[in-house]
Amino acid sequence: MATEIGTKVQNFYNKTPFPDYELDRFNKREDLINAVYPFAKLLDRSIPENASIIDVGTGTGQLSAFLSLRRKKVYGIDFSDSSLDKAKKLKKKLNLKTWNLEKIDILDSEQIEKLGKFDYVLCLGVLHHTGNAYGGFKNILKLLNPQGKIAVGLYNNFGRIPLKVRITLAKTIFKNNQKIKDSFIKMQIGDVEDKERARGWWNDQYLHPHETTHSIGEVLNWFKKNDIEYIETVPSTKIFDQSNLEIAGVWNKCDVGYPNFLVRAGKQLMWILNNQREGGYWITFGKLKN
Ligand SMILES: C[S@@+](CC[C@H](N)C(=O)[O-])C[C@H]1O[C@@H](n2cnc3c(N)ncnc32)[C@H](O)[C@@H]1O
Repeated sequence: MATEIGTKVQNFYNKTPFPDYELDRFNKREDLINAVYPFAKLLDRSIPENASIIDVGTGTGQLSAFLSLRRKKVYGIDFSDSSLDKAKKLKKKLNLKTWNLEKIDILDSEQIEKLGKFDYVLCLGVLHHTGNAYGGFKNILKLLNPQGKIAVGLYNNFGRIPLKVRITLAKTIFKNNQKIKDSFIKMQIGDVEDKERARGWWNDQYLHPHETTHSIGEVLNWFKKNDIEYIETVPSTKIFDQSNLEIAGVWNKCDVGYPNFLVRAGKQLMWILNNQREGGYWITFGKLKN
């Protein structure tokens, strides 16, 4: 049974599935390829074709649908019926046979255990909406194959500060100023031409009933306690970031040092200024130790 926070969040996503899109825009598989954000393409290039993937909290499933185009086993799980309904319509329309969709509460370990094991577990922008981010993290580790790889995307304590300020402004002095509100959302998605997408982002970033923020050190500690080897973060946690993700991909780099306290503190302070577009969102990559 969902917790009180879980019920609130579930109701929210049932009203405002994320990412929002018009089903009419997807008539062939190429439309899916053209619609995904660049980072999804980088993930796709980084994951071998024969790997199995589960996208935990997949929402309406744009990412997992896209990843299933080249693969035999991709799962998208979520607890929002409306989001999954939209995903199922997309699956049917594009005949995506290797894309499996299941209604699962990630805080429910019994439901999670029934799903089996996967080579890649993605959990992007989900745990900070559960009310028990670490509990959810521990649960989804049960989905990993030996040496399985994981990506966890969360809001950062520091990087999220400017967005929290904008939320306050949008609710108070700019409450009735649509131009300013549009300019806020443009900071994250570039334009507001696609009304469904813009509305989805507005709801998700500015009207969410529950979110928590986390530090890099906290996630590294989660990794350590659960035998997950740290690989890297995006945006990078290297002091002088000379990485070229486009070439190296993610999960594949071996030259990334473990970010010590000072590096983490410096990076997170910098994210207050230069992580505006992502709203303080960052992803940590790791793999199960042998
Ligand atoms: C911000 S959306 C992220 C969607 C997608 N991962 C993405 O990055 O575009 C968060 C999703 O997590 C789902 N979610 C939140 N708590 C959950 C839980 N306890 N169990 C399953 N799904 C959950 C919501 O229903 C929603 O679809």
